[in-house]
Amino acid sequence: MHDFVAFVAGASGYTGQAVVGALIARGIHTIAHVRPDSPHLDECCKRFTKIGARIDTTPWNERELMAAFARCNPSLVFALLGATRSRARQAGVPIKHLYEDVDRRLTLMLLAAAVQVSHPRFVYLSSAGANRSPVNTYLRVRYEVEEAVRASGLPYTIARPSFITGTGREEVRPRERFGAALLDSATGVARLFGASRWSDRYRSITGTALANVLVQRSLFASTRMDILETEMLRE
Ligand SMILES: NC(=O)c1ccc[n+]([C@@H]2O[C@H](COP(=O)([O-])OP(=O)(O)OC[C@H]3O[C@@H](n4cnc5c(N)ncnc54)[C@H](OP(=O)(O)O)[C@@H]3O)[C@@H](O)[C@H]2O)c1
Repeated sequence: MHDFVAFVAGASGYTGQAVVGALIARGIHTIAHVRPDSPHLDECCKRFTKIGARIDTTPWNERELMAAFARCNPSLVFALLGATRSRARQAGVPIKHLYEDVDRRLTLMLLAAAVQVSHPRFVYLSSAGANRSPVNTYLRVRYEVEEAVRASGLPYTIARPSFITGTGREEVRPRERFGAALLDSATGVARLFGASRWSDRYRSITGTALANVLVQRSLFASTRMDILETEMLRE
């Protein structure tokens, strides 16, 4: 188990922090990637150093990421980054631009660096609905990144959760909270009427629960390809 080296991109996020914690709890040498201009850099340095993770602040640039991978030779690379509406509002840009720039371009950059340098298992946090004909930019980007991961030749784990929510999320996301609450009520009713499979697929999941399953499945993957729908992400 101690031979694994995990590189976590998007480590400062809600899921990223939980994934770093889940890896450390399993004794995995963990490199938490936080961009040098992250608003969360100081707080993440303190938090991750305290639990024994290494911080990497390589800028988002393919050549530098390749050099970082060459140095640490990760066997697992987690791609957990993504834009949000509130960030788009703060930056004064349409959210579609950020989905293209962060969710797509940076994740593909990470994938390209992984393919060229260390050939790790690539763990991609996608989304429920990304496998169907995409209905919006968010899902189209997820679909296209999934396609690239599948075509990369790397072993991979793709997770497709619905809402990821729970306590400990610093950013207030009223739309997401409302959506998750609505969905959880609907799935609760569905369960009462025997539709437990549908309920398991769509009800929300906490960052900690998601991280535990994601880490466990990635460490003990018995197949080159592993696709985890929401119901498979339940502990
Ligand atoms: N939340 C949900 O309900 C849900 C459901 C399904 C799938 N997903 C997907 O799962 C992923 C993680 O979700 P989450 O809720 O854990 O996300 P989150 O808490 O919002 O974290 C997002 C991560 O992306 C990074 N990021 C954002 N803008 C960036 C930029 N311009 N350059 C570099 N990095 C940037 C953040 O880094 P900084 O801290 O440095 O900004 C942070 O590490 C996202 O891709 C999301 O789309 C989310």
